[in-house]
Amino acid sequence: MNKLRVAVLFGGRSGEHDVSLMSARSVLAALDPKKYEVTQVGITLDGEWLTGHNTLDAFVSGNIKELNRVILPGDPSHSALYELQMPTRPKEQQDKVSKVAGRDHGEVIKKLADIDVFFPVLHGPFGEDGTLQGLLELADVAYVGAGVVGSAVGMDKGIFKDVMRANNIPIVDSLLILRSEIENDLNTVIENVEKLGAYPFFAKPANLGSSVGISKCNSRSDLGEGLLEAARYDRRIIIERGVGKVREVEVSVLGNEDPQASVCGEVLPSREFYSYESKYVDGTSGLVIPSQLPDQITDKIREYAISAYKAIDCAGMARADFFVEDDTLKIYLNELNTLPGFTSISMYPKLWQASGMTYSELVDRLIELALERKRQRDHTQHRRTA
Ligand SMILES: Nc1ncnc2c1ncn2[C@@H]1O[C@H](COP(=O)(O)OP(=O)(O)O)[C@@H](O)[C@H]1O
Ligand SMILES: [Mg+2]
Repeated sequence: MNKLRVAVLFGGRSGEHDVSLMSARSVLAALDPKKYEVTQVGITLDGEWLTGHNTLDAFVSGNIKELNRVILPGDPSHSALYELQMPTRPKEQQDKVSKVAGRDHGEVIKKLADIDVFFPVLHGPFGEDGTLQGLLELADVAYVGAGVVGSAVGMDKGIFKDVMRANNIPIVDSLLILRSEIENDLNTVIENVEKLGAYPFFAKPANLGSSVGISKCNSRSDLGEGLLEAARYDRRIIIERGVGKVREVEVSVLGNEDPQASVCGEVLPSREFYSYESKYVDGTSGLVIPSQLPDQITDKIREYAISAYKAIDCAGMARADFFVEDDTLKIYLNELNTLPGFTSISMYPKLWQASGMTYSELVDRLIELALERKRQRDHTQHRRTA
């Protein structure tokens, strides 16, 4: 039996670089060497693609000087990984993961490996937002997860909300604001936000993750600060009405055109909200699996998760995150994460475990779904034939 050649991509340019390395560790451990021939590709904080012996370990330790540069041309006639061989790399550029080492001259390009499936294990901008997926489409390769549109809409909190509204999926009231509006007339922006309802509000950059740049605003002065903070990270800012006594319920979705939803789980943030510190610093945010909410509510949540998944043309997987108001049990969809945290103790795979699918079965299934999606794409005609 020929082994399937899989390239696992990790690291990346986003603030979730380190989280990605942790997710990749689990994915690599789950890929059965009897079935798969694996190439590890690490992407530095500067966007350089590197591979070599134990790439992941080299990224974790920061000792990447033995690794080689690799590229995927956006050209279907060369849809393989190519190694860029550089005779010399300036010494000062050989040490840090974050240094750009690609300014050399006289590179030689050599084919490294044909790849059957690319497996991006990258979170946030330049990995989960459709940009990488665009390159993979240009190269005409099979890849795990959502395509360009699903990834981009899943990442953009502004467009995502409009698509949910159009599909009658409940979401919290929100307002999209441009950075330029905040810079020109902050008072008018604040007046418009206050028309949404009572404090608290949440201010968020439209395209980011891991709660970076997000503030809970309990007063007018908080709101001014929250808007400015969010505007540091994006040109477009979302303001949302805060859900009071919120329970955070998550569900895993898997599949292409006929997606399935797992049991629901609940997150118990260690702080006032599920902030960056609560996610990654404290290490004490709890997961409750399965969620203790009544079946009537969790069934509805699963149904909304599948509708939302289809609405953005998601594929492969997504974790759908909901808010449930504790006293009224009102449900709001917060977001779909198209490349959710994927360590063996992350919510996404744990919800599947609780639904009867092991981590390695899940990884196998995602690879099958990537191949299935590629076959569907191969059926699509791109030009009119006479
Ligand atoms: N409208 C809201 N009402 C109540 N809590 C919220 C609201 N929006 C965000 N939060 C809190 O902030 C956290 C991060 O917001 P989220 O939109 O999920 O951003 P990210 O994409 O960075 O995960 C949520 O998990 C929740 O704890
Ligand atoms: Mg979130």
